[in-house]
Amino acid sequence: MKTLAFVVLVLAVLAVKRHEFKTCKDLGFCVRNRALARNTSYKISYSIVPESVVKAASGITFKVKSDQESSPFLTGEAYYLSNNVLRFYLNEINPLHKRYHTPDDLILNLENIHRKDVTQLTSTQAIWAYGDYKYILTYSPINIQGYYKDSLIYHINERSLLNFERYRTRDTVLSHNDYNLIDATGVPGDYPLWEENWRDFTDNNPRGPSSIGLDITFAKTSDIYGIPEHSDSLSLIDTENSEPYRLYNLDVFEFELNERMTLYGNIPFILNKNGGFFWNNPSETWVDIQSSAYNGHSSKRIHWFSETGVLDIFLFLEANPINLVQTFTRLTGPPSFPPMFSIAYHQCRWNYFTQKEVKEIEQGFEDHDIPMDVIWLDIEHTPNRMYFTWDYSSFPEPVKMINELAEHGRKIVTIVDPHMSKRNNFQVGQGFKDKGYYVKNQNGDDYEGHCWPGTSSWPDFMREETRDYWASQFELKNYKDTTLDVFIWNDMNEPAVFGGPENTMPKTNLHMFDVEHREIHNLYGIMTHRATYEGLIKRSPNDRPFILSRAFYAGSQKYGAIWTGDNMAKWEYMEASVPMCLGVTLGGLSFCGSDVGGFFYNPSAELMERWYQIGAYSPFFRSHAHIETDKREPWVFGEESLNRIRESIKERYRLLPYWYTLFYEHAEMSLPIMRPLFMMYTEDLNVSKIDKQYFVGEAIMVTGLSKPSQQSVKLYVPEGRWFDFHGYKEITVRGYTDATVTKDAVPVYLKGGHIIPMQNRQRRSSALMKNDPYSLLVVLDSSYKAKGTLFVDDFKTFNYKNGDYLTSIFEFSDNSLRYSVDHPWSSSNSIETITILGLPNSPNHIRLESGCGNQDLYFTIIDQVLTIKMTKAKINEPWVIVLDF
Ligand code: NOJ
Repeated sequence: MKTLAFVVLVLAVLAVKRHEFKTCKDLGFCVRNRALARNTSYKISYSIVPESVVKAASGITFKVKSDQESSPFLTGEAYYLSNNVLRFYLNEINPLHKRYHTPDDLILNLENIHRKDVTQLTSTQAIWAYGDYKYILTYSPINIQGYYKDSLIYHINERSLLNFERYRTRDTVLSHNDYNLIDATGVPGDYPLWEENWRDFTDNNPRGPSSIGLDITFAKTSDIYGIPEHSDSLSLIDTENSEPYRLYNLDVFEFELNERMTLYGNIPFILNKNGGFFWNNPSETWVDIQSSAYNGHSSKRIHWFSETGVLDIFLFLEANPINLVQTFTRLTGPPSFPPMFSIAYHQCRWNYFTQKEVKEIEQGFEDHDIPMDVIWLDIEHTPNRMYFTWDYSSFPEPVKMINELAEHGRKIVTIVDPHMSKRNNFQVGQGFKDKGYYVKNQNGDDYEGHCWPGTSSWPDFMREETRDYWASQFELKNYKDTTLDVFIWNDMNEPAVFGGPENTMPKTNLHMFDVEHREIHNLYGIMTHRATYEGLIKRSPNDRPFILSRAFYAGSQKYGAIWTGDNMAKWEYMEASVPMCLGVTLGGLSFCGSDVGGFFYNPSAELMERWYQIGAYSPFFRSHAHIETDKREPWVFGEESLNRIRESIKERYRLLPYWYTLFYEHAEMSLPIMRPLFMMYTEDLNVSKIDKQYFVGEAIMVTGLSKPSQQSVKLYVPEGRWFDFHGYKEITVRGYTDATVTKDAVPVYLKGGHIIPMQNRQRRSSALMKNDPYSLLVVLDSSYKAKGTLFVDDFKTFNYKNGDYLTSIFEFSDNSLRYSVDHPWSSSNSIETITILGLPNSPNHIRLESGCGNQDLYFTIIDQVLTIKMTKAKINEPWVIVLDF
C-alpha cells in the first residue's frame, strides 16, 4: 500500500514540469554554439593543411589548423564506403584527456562494407566520384559538398560553424583575435566554461569545455525529417525563435506535445529526399533548424552541436528516402527479426498484481473471444523491485502460470530495469557490487541514486564484462522460475534517476573508470537493451529474443522494440503517436508503438476503441496503463466497445502474414515498415508534411484520427488505384478529400498493384495460427496487375538463417494469378481463399492451368469482388489460376 501512496503522490505532483529540464540557456555549450551561429560577425575558420594530406587505408588522413594559429591542433580522416557513404572524422592531436569516440563495433555494422579510394586528390581538394555519387572535400576553409547525379544535395560547413573546443587547463588563454575566433569559447557571453550550476545541482565539469559543432545546408529543400524522438510534426520546424531540438535521453514525466524537448530516446540522423547526415556522437546534442535561401532556392540550414566527444559524421546520398533509411539502417543494423508473437497483440498494465489476476485476465480474453499473445508484468511482480526475482506472496507458482499461458500459445514479458536495489538480500545487485561493475561517481565509488527500489546503483553497461554478467542473469538457472516463454522489458534506461539532475545521473559519473557519463549518456539505454538481448541469446541461442526498451539510440533496431513512453489518454496523444513512430522509423527503428489507451488518465470508451483501431496498424501493438488508472481491458467498456476492440485486434491477426513478411524484409533488407507518404511519393509536393497518414509496407495506407465523434477525416489520396479495406469499395477521388469515418474503423486503404497475404481463421493466439491456411487479397491496379510476397518459417528460431523458410511470390497479370515458390521449405500450409478486387468485369470461368493437383475451383462474385476457394493448393507448390472472360 505504501507503494501505491507514493505513486498517487507522483501522479498528483508530477504534471509537466518544464523547470525540471534544462533549456539551451542553462548549458554553456548550447549558449555559445548558438551565439556563434546567430552573430555572424564572429568567425571560426579551420583548414586542412594541404601538405599534411596523406593517402592511407583507402582514405585520406590530414591535419587541421585554425587560421588564428600556426600549428594544426586536429587530426582528421575521410574515406568513402562501398555503400556510397562518406565518413569524415576529426579529433584533437594531443588531447589533455582522451576524447570519447564510440567504438565502431558498439553501434555500427561495417561488415561487408569496404573503403573505396579517393578518385582525385589535388592541393586544394579531395574528390570521391562513383557513379551518381560525388563528394568534394575542400581544404580551405574546410567544407564538403555532396552531389547526387550532379545536383548539389548538401553543403557541410557552409556557414563556417565548425567548432572544435580543445581540452585545456583552467589557466589556458586561447588567443582569439577580436571577431576571428579559435573556437566558440571565444564568443563573448555570460556562460560558464567549467562549473555549471542549475537549480540545486552543480556540474563541476572537471575537464572543462570540449564542445563540437558543425552546420549542414540541405540545398533545394523545403522539408527535412529525422532526429527523433520528439513529440512534434514529422517535418521538422524552424527553431530560430524557439528552443533547438534536443537529443539527450531523459525520463520526461507527462511530456507535452508539439515540443522539441528531448524524450526517452534519440537517433542523430537527419534527411531530406536525397541526402542524409548522421552525427555519431552520444553526448548531449542540440540541433537548430533554419529555412533560408541558398543559391536562390529554399533550403534548410541545420546546426549541430554536442557537449563533448569527437566529430564523426557519415554523409549519405541516395536516389530516394527509402534507400536513405535503408542505408542508414544497414550501417547501424541489422534490425532483429522478432518472433511472431511479439508482433501480435500484447496486454499490459502497471500492474497485474497476482498470479490469480493474470489468470483472470487471460480468461477474460478467452471468454470474450479476443486473440492475445502476451501478458506483461510490470515492477510490482517483484519483491521491492528486485528484478530477476518474484514476489512469491502474489506469484506463488510462476512456472505454472507461465506454462498455462504457454498451453494457449501465449507468453509472459517481465520488466527488468537497470537500477539495481542496494538491499542486502538482493543477490543479483550484490553480484554487480562485488565484481565492481557499477557506474562510479566522481570519487570512484559506486554511484548511488534513487529509483523504484529506493537506493540503487546502475550497472556500467559500457563495459563488456558488465554486459556479459547482466546477460548471464537471464539464463534459466539464474533467473529462477522463468522459462523460455518469458521475454523482457527494459524500462527507465535513459537512465532515469529520481531526484537526479533532470531525472538522470550526474554527468560527472564515471564509466569504464575514466569516461565521464556526459561523454556516453545517450548510449546507456541501447547498451542496456543490447546486454539484455545478449542475455536472451545466452539463455537459448537459437531462439529469437524479444525485448522492449524505452531508451534508444542509433542502432537500437538490432535489439528489439521501443515505445513512445508515458503518453496520456487524450485524443491529441493518440494522434501524435503516428508522427512520433514515423520519426523513429526514419532512424532505422521500425518496431515502434505507443501505449494503446494512453498511459496517464482514463480513456473514454470511444478513445479506447479508436486507439485500438490505429494501434492495430502500428508495428508494436500493446495496451498499457498507469497504476492509478481504472481497469481498461477490452471488455470493461460495454458490448459495443468490446465488439469494436475485438474486431481491431482480429484485423491485426488476419494481417499477421503481411506484417511478418514486412518484419522479415525489415530484418533482411533494412526496409522500413511504417512509411510516411513523402517516402512513397517523392515527386508529389502535397505529401511533404503529411504525418497522420502513413503506409504499412507498400500496400496499406492508414489514416489516424484526432477527435471524438469524428464522422469524417480529411485525408489525401495520392495517385494510383485505391480500395477501402473495410468493405472493398473502390475509392475514386484523388487528392485531398473528406472521407467518411464510421465508428468501427479508421480509414485503411489498399493500394492497387499489391497482393496481401492473410490468415482469416480466428484463433486465441498467433502460435495457434501456425498451420492455418493462408488467403491472398489481390488488389489490382489500373492495368489489372498486382504482386506480393509471403515469408513463412517456424515463427521463432534462427533456423531461417540456415534456409528453413519459405518465400513465395504471387503475381497477377493477363488474367492469371501465378503463385511461385522462391525459396522452398517443407510446410503443410495451404492457400484457401483468393479475393480479387478491381477486375473490369466478371469472369465466366476460372480454371487451374497448372499445379496443385486436380481440383475444382469454387468462386463467387459479389459487388465486383471475386472470391475463389481452393481446396488443395499448398504454399510450397507453384500453381497458376486463369480467369476466362
Ligand atoms: C515508466 C514506464 O514508462 C511505464 O510504462 C511503466 O509502467 C512504469 N515506469 C512502471 O514500471
